[in-house]
Amino acid sequence: MGKNTNHAEATGNTVGTVGSVSAGWDHLGKRGDGPARNLLEVRNLRVSYGGIEAVRDISFDVPEHEIVTLIGANGAGKSSTLRSIVALEKPAGGSIRFDGNELTGMGTEQIVKNGITLVPEGRRVFVNLSVYENLRMGAYLRNDDLQSDLDWVYSLFPRLKERSWQAAGTLSGGEQQMLAIARALMSRPKMIMMDEPSLGLAPIIVQEVFDIIREINQMGMTILLVEQNANMALKAADLGYVMETGQITLSGAGMDLAQNPVVREAYLGKARG
Ligand SMILES: Nc1ncnc2c1ncn2[C@@H]1O[C@H](COP(=O)(O)OP(=O)(O)OP(=O)(O)O)[C@@H](O)[C@H]1O
Ligand SMILES: [Mg+2]
Repeated sequence: MGKNTNHAEATGNTVGTVGSVSAGWDHLGKRGDGPARNLLEVRNLRVSYGGIEAVRDISFDVPEHEIVTLIGANGAGKSSTLRSIVALEKPAGGSIRFDGNELTGMGTEQIVKNGITLVPEGRRVFVNLSVYENLRMGAYLRNDDLQSDLDWVYSLFPRLKERSWQAAGTLSGGEQQMLAIARALMSRPKMIMMDEPSLGLAPIIVQEVFDIIREINQMGMTILLVEQNANMALKAADLGYVMETGQITLSGAGMDLAQNPVVREAYLGKARG
């Protein structure tokens, strides 16, 4: 969550053993379990830095159990949008409703407890802590048993399990991105937001990141994904929004946007990865 904390406890606990892996997260429910409802509803959100309006009156929905992507060029306001949802920026106006609760006015910790986590741009793992300690940090607001979630996360990311005692700063870029996602999962969110998870990674690793995004989604997780890699993001997403200079200029099904000539011209011709 960007914010450093003093909750790092380097405990001597050993990590989980394979075989006792939980079957994922039953509490999330699955797609099609009930009528589709919006888990997140953003209305007329504005974010300003001094006199500069980075986010100008945007409204969008994230339906439960779906992958929604926000694409747009550098400086469009994507990160500002995600950061304001978890109160890392204070909105200048508008409403953010999540799972029936109004989030504006809440602090970041309370919002995380309500079930949202952000995998920040640039990953921001704790480089001097081990993989295992990073995962424990992700769960610092919880005081229930973490073992079954650790087992589950390690089953999703076997490479992290192999490297559980390695300092996070010595992981490769792709491994650090996986760790950042795994750490976010440890807070048991209902919705995970990812800010440019593919940035700076080799194409084969980008593919792995998107495979994991799909896998987590199939377990019931709702995902709000910010990407400049519009091609990959729109292919993965149920719903997409295009952001330009602080405003949403287009929206639609991911596949439809991927075919849209305006989107193709502006974002897909120069898509990375
Ligand atoms: N802390 C800040 N102080 C002042 N201006 C900021 C701050 N953070 C962002 N901005 C400005 O707000 C605008 C939107 O930035 P933001 O980081 O939200 O864009 P973005 O879509 O995430 O871009 P990128 O794809 O490059 O990450 C930019 O003009 C940026 O310079
Ligand atoms: Mg950004």
